[in-house]
Formats: sequence, C-alpha cells, structure tokens
Amino acid sequence: MNFLILSRLSNLYSTQRLVQAIQGRGHHVAIENPESLCEGHSVDILIPRLGGFRYEESLTNLRQLEKKLSPKKTLNTAANFHQARHKKISAQVLADIPQPRAFETPDCFPVIVKDCLSSQGEGVFLCRSQEELQNCLYKLQGRELLFQEFISESQGHDIRVFIIGDKVAAAMERVAADPRTEFRSNLSLGGIAHPVSLTAEEEQLCIQAVRKLQLDYAGVDLVRSHRGPLILEVNPCPGLEGIEKCSHKNIAEEIVVYAESFLNSHS
Ligand SMILES: Nc1ncnc2c1ncn2[C@@H]1O[C@H](COP(=O)(O)OP(=O)(O)O)[C@@H](O)[C@H]1O
Ligand SMILES: [Mg+2]
Repeated sequence: MNFLILSRLSNLYSTQRLVQAIQGRGHHVAIENPESLCEGHSVDILIPRLGGFRYEESLTNLRQLEKKLSPKKTLNTAANFHQARHKKISAQVLADIPQPRAFETPDCFPVIVKDCLSSQGEGVFLCRSQEELQNCLYKLQGRELLFQEFISESQGHDIRVFIIGDKVAAAMERVAADPRTEFRSNLSLGGIAHPVSLTAEEEQLCIQAVRKLQLDYAGVDLVRSHRGPLILEVNPCPGLEGIEKCSHKNIAEEIVVYAESFLNSHS
C-alpha cells in the first residue's frame, strides 16, 4: 500500500515512528509538507499530521488533496479533523457527553478561557478575576474563544486516552510539573506521565466521543471530577512520543494495522 504523511517536519518523533511502522509492515511511504500540492503521488492511505503552524492553510490544502488524490482512506479527514480540533465546534458535537460546562459570557470566576484553535496548552488560560479576564481577552483579541467551568478538583491532573478505531490503545495520567502553580498537564509544558487504569465508564466515554466526531484515531483528554469523568478535548492529531514511552506500546504500528484492516475490509 502507498501511504502519504502530511507533516511539516519529517524528523518529528510521531512522523518518524509512523514511517518506521509503515515500512516495517512492507508498505511504501512518502512525506509531504501539509501545504504541498503533492504532485505525482498515488495514495491509498493519507495521514494528515497538521500542527498549529499555518493550520488553516494546511486544512484548506488537505480538503483539496482529498479530492485530487482520492485516497482510499484518510486518517482523519479534513472535515472530521476540523470539527474535533475546533474547541467550540467539538463541544457542540459532543453536547450530550459529559464535559465541563461552557458559558456564553464569562460572568463568574474562576473561568477557563480557551482559544478555539490552540493546542499543547498554549491557548488555555485560567482567569480568577475580572482583571485577569480583561488581560486575557486583550491578548486573545480576534481569536474565537470558548469559556468554560474550571474543574478545580483536577489539580493539574488529567488523563490522555489514545483511541484507535473504537478501542482504547493506551492511557496515561498526566500531572502538571508543579500543580500548585500550573493547572495544565500538557507534556509540552513539562507535565509528567504515568500509566493509569481506566474505569469501564471512562473507556466508554472516550470511545463514544471519538465515534461522535467520526475520527479514526484520536487522543482524548479527560478529567476526573466530583461529578464523574468529563471530556476536555478530542485531539485529531495526537503526539505519539509521550504515550509510547509511557505505555511501552507500539502505537504507530497499531495505527498502520488499523489502516490496513480498513482497506482489506473495504476492497
Ligand atoms: N475546564 C478545565 N478545568 C481544569 N483543567 C483544565 C480545563 N480545561 C483544560 N484544563 C487543563 O489544561 C490542559 C489543556 O487543555 P485542553 O483543552 O486539552 O487544550 P489543548 O488543546 O491546548 O491541550 C488540559 O490537559 C488540562 O490539564
Ligand atoms: Mg489537550
């Protein structure tokens, strides 16, 4: 099979691991920049790995590539990628799944403010007063925002659940480097990962969320709150490094096996 990965940097851990897994299973793989026209490729499986840099341009290009290259399978398609990636659209699609409450206007404190198209914790802020909120809104001028209830009992902890197809591939608990001063547990911000066991309810919730967003694979972030597990986000382009190192599982290969079995059952 011919795989094409859209990735800005071919030496990123996740890109490298996918390449190894694809080649290890006897397939051909090419890597192109997410904004490339990808001339001359015959593609069975397209894997877009779109990051934050020039995200909207990359997404527009992905939409065109899906038509032009007509791959047999795209993990994950532009339409599904975007509705998961956009925090407000995703919250609406997941309306009947337990999540932190969303507010139309932030009028009680503390409140979480999220830049709808941010990732890696960079656009997520905790505002404890009107003054902090004003500063935050000033910084985020022109961005689409989601206002959300702060789940204080999570205390800098959350759980990343890696789903492939409709199965849990691995899970890890992430703890912010210093939970007294940092509520975001993203590994890119210094968070530390430990293996964790999920309850059946948590597993089902993550699988349901991924299914509703029609993703082939995803990283689901959830917090354990006083009212049970709540979904924070469903990441359509989850990193592989933290989860593979924490779980000692070959997640890249599981993604490739999923793509193979999809093609085999649809050919
Ligand atoms: N409503 C919330 N209450 C408490 N902590 C939160 C909340 N939302 C996000 N966080 C923390 O901030 C981190 C980043 O938020 P997330 O919504 O996953 O955005 P990103 O796409 O930037 O990772 C989460 O992993 C979690 O630790
Ligand atoms: Mg996250």
